[in-house]
Amino acid sequence: MGEKGRQIAKLDHKWLVAELSKAYAFEWVVHHYAALAANIVSGLRTPVYSEIFKKAAEGEFGHANKIAKRIAELGGEPPETLSDMEKLAGFGKVSFPKDRNDIKGFIKVFLKMEQHAIALYDNLAQKTHGKDLVTHELAEDLLADEVAEEEEYENMLRE
Ligand SMILES: [Fe+2]
Ligand SMILES: [Fe+2]
Repeated sequence: MGEKGRQIAKLDHKWLVAELSKAYAFEWVVHHYAALAANIVSGLRTPVYSEIFKKAAEGEFGHANKIAKRIAELGGEPPETLSDMEKLAGFGKVSFPKDRNDIKGFIKVFLKMEQHAIALYDNLAQKTHGKDLVTHELAEDLLADEVAEEEEYENMLRE
């Protein structure tokens, strides 16, 4: 990002990059687990849910890339190693159901991840409000996506 573009982001850029790096790391973690779920989910409805998880993996990867772009504009770089990302994501241990036919068990894991993402972007949107309009808009866009995704998973649990 150019000089003026950086100037108008009236928050400590180190803090902003650190917050965005956490979000980037978390999106990668969700991307990984959704891609894994697409590959291991089993049972009669495998084709349907494999596709749902594959799409989710792509969506979260898209989120990670949008965040990386903003980090670069602020003069930073996203975390480099996978082990750093897992730590930064701060989500803790993920355990899929041992029974790979247990679709709802998988969905519950992703529902928790969406709720984690909602809290993350709500916080980022609040803190950047009126101070860094570009990051604020990004946080709002991501927040809207995660809210919609939470709703979709909740609906799947009701099926
Ligand atoms: Fe996301
Ligand atoms: Fe999501």
